[in-house]
Amino acid sequence: MAVREIKKDIYAVGALDWERRLFDELIPLPDGTSYNAYLVKGSEKTVLLDTVDPTKGQELRDHLRALNVDKIDYIVAHHGEQDHSGTIPEILELYPEAMVLTNEKCSVILQDLLHIPAAKFRVVQDEETISLGGKTLKFIFTPWVHWPETIVTYLPEDKILFSCDFFSSHLAAGELFARNQSNTYSAAKRFFSEIMMPFRAAIRNNLKRLENLEIEMIAPSHGPVYDNPAIILDAYREWSDEAGVKNEAVIIYVSMHGSTEKMVRVLTEALIKRGVSVKPFRLTVTDTGELAAALVDAATLVVASPAVLGGPHPQVAYAAMLAAALRPRVKFAAIIGSYGWGSKMVEQLGGLLGALKAELLEPVVVKGYPREEHLAALDELAAQIAQRHKSFVTQ
Ligand code: FEO
Repeated sequence: MAVREIKKDIYAVGALDWERRLFDELIPLPDGTSYNAYLVKGSEKTVLLDTVDPTKGQELRDHLRALNVDKIDYIVAHHGEQDHSGTIPEILELYPEAMVLTNEKCSVILQDLLHIPAAKFRVVQDEETISLGGKTLKFIFTPWVHWPETIVTYLPEDKILFSCDFFSSHLAAGELFARNQSNTYSAAKRFFSEIMMPFRAAIRNNLKRLENLEIEMIAPSHGPVYDNPAIILDAYREWSDEAGVKNEAVIIYVSMHGSTEKMVRVLTEALIKRGVSVKPFRLTVTDTGELAAALVDAATLVVASPAVLGGPHPQVAYAAMLAAALRPRVKFAAIIGSYGWGSKMVEQLGGLLGALKAELLEPVVVKGYPREEHLAALDELAAQIAQRHKSFVTQ
């Protein structure tokens, strides 16, 4: 990423990662990502807000050199995860006079993860301000966007919120600002589903805390900067609202010899016939980020599996576990599937889905290939789903 001035004396100095395809060895990155870091020059002090993933440390150092930065007074660590903090030790070597500003929780995390000495930290409090000369840093504690220690920084003179993972997108793009609305929206929604969705209650609280700030720009630490922040603020309000589910069902499935697939097709058509929007995901060809994003709005999750060694197919068990860990807003869940001679699939999947706190509908499990009565049971399941959606969904 080239160095760019986003406002007077405020520069984007982070790095693009066009080629990265997996984050945390878990999250697919179809569009790469970026590690945004920002340099703010006051008349008296200079501050670096976050760093970059250690793989891109050279780029950050080059950008600071290009700006002739000979002194950094503070490095703000909004979040302990290494994609933002991992280059702090290198920057401290380069600028040994710099102090790391963060909260107590994050300082402990950084001492543990990066072995930064305790003496290098200046711990800040919630709503504390620090003057840089003509520019002020105001720290706001916003826990659980993404870890418990996360904070954001508000710059009142320029009305910019530096939000780290909060409002981020995994998107490598040449443009600094969010311009391609549909691309930006889908990348932000995907990021929300993968990182923020389990912490909706904290997100709602944090959004409330930001309401009193006059924000003209949101500068996150992945993806585009928003110079029209209403787009992303409104989206976060919608995605974190418990009552916001839509008339949508997500079906995750694997089929080995066609029985479960037949059941999924029949259920899908029966739901469509009743006006329910359906998204089936065959897990052997599914991008889990797309699945996570679909779960943001779904009112129902259906898990469909053949029996393998007496339990669910391992890929279905993995997806059910992942879906439950992401804690989407789904209100209803159902298990369908098939077996040859016996299975504890319903008990095992039911256990995995317990964390969803959704109403578990009557399962439909078939020995062998589905017969007419099984197809009728699937039709009845679709009727139950459609009826329940009427009382819950917004559209
Ligand atoms: Fe972008 Fe939670 O780190």
